[in-house]
Amino acid sequence: MPRNFLRLDNFTPDDLRGLLNESLRLKAYPYGETPLAGKSIGILFAKASTRTRVAFEVGIHQFGGKAISLNPGDIQISRGESLSDTAKVLSRYIDGMVVRAGDQSVIEELADAATVPVINALTDKFHPCQAVADFAALLEKKGNLEDMKLTYIGDGNNVANSLIIGAAMLGIDMHVASPEGYRPENDVLETATTIIKETGGKITVGSDPKEAAKEADAIYTDVWTSMGQEEEAGRRIEAFAGYTVNDAIMAVAKSDCVAMHCLPAHRGEEITASVIDGPRSIVWDQAEFKLHAQKAIMKMTMGDEN
Ligand code: CP
Ligand code: NVA
Repeated sequence: MPRNFLRLDNFTPDDLRGLLNESLRLKAYPYGETPLAGKSIGILFAKASTRTRVAFEVGIHQFGGKAISLNPGDIQISRGESLSDTAKVLSRYIDGMVVRAGDQSVIEELADAATVPVINALTDKFHPCQAVADFAALLEKKGNLEDMKLTYIGDGNNVANSLIIGAAMLGIDMHVASPEGYRPENDVLETATTIIKETGGKITVGSDPKEAAKEADAIYTDVWTSMGQEEEAGRRIEAFAGYTVNDAIMAVAKSDCVAMHCLPAHRGEEITASVIDGPRSIVWDQAEFKLHAQKAIMKMTMGDEN
């Protein structure tokens, strides 16, 4: 069975901790190992990407492999060839697939038919590579993840979902503040609730951003309108009024609280310029960790030892 990474809980908490440590190690030693030597990795992105895609392509290059760009518009998927036939055929050529799609079921269908590992590079439901990069950036900044309060303010979206599951796996105390109707989905909260029984984590979901931000070690936000939701943008700006991560929100957190965002950001909506461009922001470190974390994920799923 290929080792897929479709959501964070495809791995164990120990695997996740291993990935974080490996991400930090790869940051210190980016060159000199080639676990993808001679391997070709398909990059199939149905949505825009700056960070994730470039970080995967660079990571594959640094690991001695070759990235094969498979834009959906250029392959026969665009003319109706099924996901499963596509995955079966591609598996005869390539050694792994990195996929960005809309529905989580697309990536699951591809992975079911593929005989090579599939990595989720974002779906509407999850963004697991992002969460690994984020926790690695937090680990680097704080030195450890013990007794941490992580607060997420805003849309209960793909990024929030993966952070919630990751926080549960790492035993972190996670607080989410979202307006009614935009909270993380129940099945994600149920999964997290099951995981924290083993790990000692905590998850609190409410609608008061200031309450959630109190004494936080890290405050995270993401766009109010994700890719594919553009038609709802006006309605969402109204619904999220009061959920901007600004200086007043940061003021109730711990004095060494960091501000996080997966990027791309909309300054003046989910976060102010004063916060994202201010001294507590670690967003550029998060972006850099996409490279190291995604390399760690590829090594674990597609590397020589698999
Ligand atoms: N954070 C993130 O996934 O960015 P991209 O959409 O640019 O890959
Ligand atoms: N929630 C955002 C994340 C982009 C990296 C989106 O899905 O558009």
